[in-house]
Amino acid sequence: MNNVHAKEYSEKPLIEQKIISLEDLRQISSDGNFGFIGQSKNILKIFKMVEKIADRDTTILINGETGTGKGLLARLIHNKSNRNKLPFVKINCGAIPDHLLESELFGHEKGSFTGATNLKPGKFEIADGGTIFLDEIGDMSYDLQVKLLRVLEENEFERVGGCKTIKTDVRIIAATHRNLEEEVKKGNFREDLYYRLFIIPLFIPALQERKSDIPILLSHFLSSHNNNFKTVIHGISNQALNLLMDYSWPGNVRELKNMIERIVALNETGLITFEELPQRLKELNKENVFPIYNISEEGICLNTAVNEFEKQLIIQSLEKSKWVKNKAAKLLHLNRTTLVEKIKRYNLEHCSI
Ligand SMILES: Nc1ncnc2c1ncn2[C@@H]1O[C@H](COP(=O)(O)OP(=O)(O)OP(=O)(O)O)[C@@H](O)[C@H]1O
Ligand SMILES: [Mg+2]
Repeated sequence: MNNVHAKEYSEKPLIEQKIISLEDLRQISSDGNFGFIGQSKNILKIFKMVEKIADRDTTILINGETGTGKGLLARLIHNKSNRNKLPFVKINCGAIPDHLLESELFGHEKGSFTGATNLKPGKFEIADGGTIFLDEIGDMSYDLQVKLLRVLEENEFERVGGCKTIKTDVRIIAATHRNLEEEVKKGNFREDLYYRLFIIPLFIPALQERKSDIPILLSHFLSSHNNNFKTVIHGISNQALNLLMDYSWPGNVRELKNMIERIVALNETGLITFEELPQRLKELNKENVFPIYNISEEGICLNTAVNEFEKQLIIQSLEKSKWVKNKAAKLLHLNRTTLVEKIKRYNLEHCSI
């Protein structure tokens, strides 16, 4: 297992820490960002940008893979803006069929279509004075994009079936997981709307591009799930943390959050260890049992590398056997005395928090 990531968030090598407490995981305070947690360079840059632009009424386009926190970021910008006492209205443009989306956005007059039994105000009217969050804007149809462009440029629209022009004062935040530039090239997204939205682009990198956020997110989710479930999880073993750091997180922060919720709900020991991790992460561990070393020009110290490997296997067997040394010794085909000597040598005595 490599410890490269560990250097990003801890001065002590993880291997010497054995068990990492919630406090160790939490390096900076997350106060002031309304639950948007992060300490990586990329996220700190986003926080800085948010401070700058929150109060300016410019349109913002948030881009990022699914589960990276686009919705949360939109909410953060609204909360930090001087519109925060007025509504934050969210609409998922990808989840609503086209004909309904138009009336959701702009409202409709009574009798404007079958089923329109009453006048209905649209999201642009409801959000007046506040912020409208157009989620998955890349999924909006070409026709509706024209109508949206008009609101963006002239701050006015008509309800479906109506002729009265309604003025609106809303801040627009849009988000998409798609590459809009590519969609423009393919002819799926209007170029004029793209440039109108692209005034302040914010890109949230995938979690695997900012692994130094994992410990602080972990600490945050552990604390909040501890509160929800009235559980007391103190920390995580270094082997389990190393696996979380090595995993690629295709579902990004959402996947991490849901995984931690499941682990906390089922946990009985107060500690997250290798055993509690889902199979897909354990599989990753199997692949990593034999570390790959590249011997550079300067060479490599064979003894150090072998000791490191031995240490990793001892930790793994101790965690697997819940620190029952007889069992751990059996797993390594050693006698108990030899294992105890090695535990002492590597300073691996189990410490509870
Ligand atoms: N930086 C973060 N700090 C705390 N929680 C986060 C963070 N990023 C995401 N989350 C949590 O992860 C989940 C997914 O976030 P969110 O819905 O904002 O992602 P998204 O990018 O909008 O995803 P999708 O594209 O699937 O809509 C939410 O429960 C959110 O609270
Ligand atoms: Mg979202």
